[in-house]
Amino acid sequence: MTEQDLMRLAVEMLDKAYVPYSHFPVGAALECGDGTVYTGCNIENAAYTPTVCAERIAFFKAVSDGRRDFRAIAVAGGKDGVDACTPCGVCRQVMAEFCDPETFQIILAVDAKHYDIYTLKEMLPKGFGPSNLTE
Ligand code: THU
Repeated sequence: MTEQDLMRLAVEMLDKAYVPYSHFPVGAALECGDGTVYTGCNIENAAYTPTVCAERIAFFKAVSDGRRDFRAIAVAGGKDGVDACTPCGVCRQVMAEFCDPETFQIILAVDAKHYDIYTLKEMLPKGFGPSNLTE
């Protein structure tokens, strides 16, 4: 799957976002090592704190399906159509649990036509992850 294809799937998820409070839809598309894609959208809640970001929905769908091997995630979101949405700290930490910081790619929409690509290490420098707990 190309970066453009993955981003297109993330953008398609904007329509599924449940955002009655922030009106800030986010879509994500997570590609596994074998090319399988899991999508996610943010799902908000009247009590606010149960809200879950699009990226974590995609990860938890995949992990609950037995997946552990991930290549890249595309993320798009914003109040005005396809826009930039950079992953929150909690989502970066979830990525660090399952992904190699050196190689996992985070593809972020800039606008409807452009995106930037970062490694997880760039987005979570000096992060704490599973390797910190191994002896
Ligand atoms: N949100 C995401 O879905 N992903 C992020 O990385 C940042 C924020 C959602 C949470 C909430 O529903 C809305 O965007 C505004 O914070």
